[in-house]
Amino acid sequence: MRPLPSRRRNHRGISLGLLALCLAAAGSLQSQGVSLYIPQAAINATVEEDILLSVEYSCHGIPTIEWKYTSNWGVQKIVEWKPGTQANVSQSHKDRVCTFDNGSIQLFSVGVRDSGYYVITVTEQLGSSQFGTIMLHVSEILYEDLHFVAVFLAFLAAVAAVLISLMWVCNKCAYKFQRKRRHKLKESTTEEIELQDIEC
Ligand SMILES: *[C@@H]1O[C@H](CO)[C@@H](O)[C@H](O)[C@H]1NC(C)=O
Ligand SMILES: *[C@@H]1O[C@H](CO)[C@@H](O)[C@H](O)[C@H]1NC(C)=O
Ligand SMILES: *[C@@H]1O[C@H](CO)[C@@H](O)[C@H](O)[C@H]1NC(C)=O
Repeated sequence: MRPLPSRRRNHRGISLGLLALCLAAAGSLQSQGVSLYIPQAAINATVEEDILLSVEYSCHGIPTIEWKYTSNWGVQKIVEWKPGTQANVSQSHKDRVCTFDNGSIQLFSVGVRDSGYYVITVTEQLGSSQFGTIMLHVSEILYEDLHFVAVFLAFLAAVAAVLISLMWVCNKCAYKFQRKRRHKLKESTTEEIELQDIEC
């Protein structure tokens, strides 16, 4: 019966420790203001694909989210919105982008010229902000795909060649068969004629 109370004390000690840890974690989150999580910081895509620039933020209240596009040609604003309200999409990306409440955006049917850096800035009402970057690389259709298409076309051509030669052989056979039958017919008619001759 003796060990029980001590074990209980141990339990309490552990839970107290956990509570302290949680408080510490919450405290560090609070002091940080906005936090931003980007699961994939670099994306490779091919043309015509729909690309999700996926992020997730946490902060106090409702922030303002802004996405910018940076490339060799300069910086361009894409979209700005507060989650739950209508997004303000720039003219350059009208009808090409859709926004999600977690801060992510989706780009529809990307082209090679969409390659570059996409910078998201999440700004809290109190003023603190956090930014993150996703690199997008859009390439033309891969060479391997073309290779596959070429192999497929060669296969089709081979099948067509086999079919054509089969048809040619069949045609020949049919012609020979017809000639044989005509020959036989001729033979039988001459026989008949001969028979008739004998009868006469
Ligand atoms: C994207 O492609 C580059 C080479 O072009 C490669 O080094 C990189 O690892 C790829 N990244 C992903 C996320 O597939
Ligand atoms: C953000 O939301 C979109 C759409 O609901 C989802 O596809 C994406 O995975 C989310 N991103 C993260 C990092 O959770
Ligand atoms: C949308 O953005 C443009 C340019 O940044 C700005 O002039 C306009 O006031 C914005 N509209 C709204 C509703 O926020």
